[in-house]
Amino acid sequence: MNKTWKDVEQHVAACTYCPLSRTRNRPVMGFGDHQADLMLIAEAPGVEEDLQGLPFVGRSGEVLDKLLRDCGLTRKEIYMTNILKRHPPGNRDPKEEEKEACISHLKYEMFLLKPKVFVCLGRVAAQRIISPDFKITRQHGTWTYRKNYALTATYHPSAILRDPSKYQIAKEDFCAAVKKCMECKNKE
Ligand code: URA
Repeated sequence: MNKTWKDVEQHVAACTYCPLSRTRNRPVMGFGDHQADLMLIAEAPGVEEDLQGLPFVGRSGEVLDKLLRDCGLTRKEIYMTNILKRHPPGNRDPKEEEKEACISHLKYEMFLLKPKVFVCLGRVAAQRIISPDFKITRQHGTWTYRKNYALTATYHPSAILRDPSKYQIAKEDFCAAVKKCMECKNKE
């Protein structure tokens, strides 16, 4: 694989692998530091993201920024992306075939970034990336180790908007992920 970030952006922009390419306004590529050790993966762009072509720019983005800030980070210091690069109409869950159609873009992002730690935001991302039977309520904040990286999951910011009592739990999971990045770095 000798792709560059520009190649991936162009593939995402031109992609017609699934019908969402006909209903979306703008494709939503990941955003952030291409050298980051921490990669966040959520499920799919929402309405505001679809309009602006950037991930997490709506209300759930405000929650995400606060979570990052509370752990001493900004969105420019990490990399954030979604499994789907197109907005599913009506904010419904992504369909299996849409996830499969889009997964190669995510794999390229992972390959280019090579982060030390992945944080899946919400059930859809955790079940696609960590394990199909992952239960956020029971397993958030637990760690799975693969070749050169560690994976965890926490509540999706939109779940926090619906139930603000989840904020503190997600903050602890986020801060643990930041700590895990440090530990991984120190082992190098
Ligand atoms: N929800 C997501 O899963 N991703 C975004 O980018 C915004 C909202």
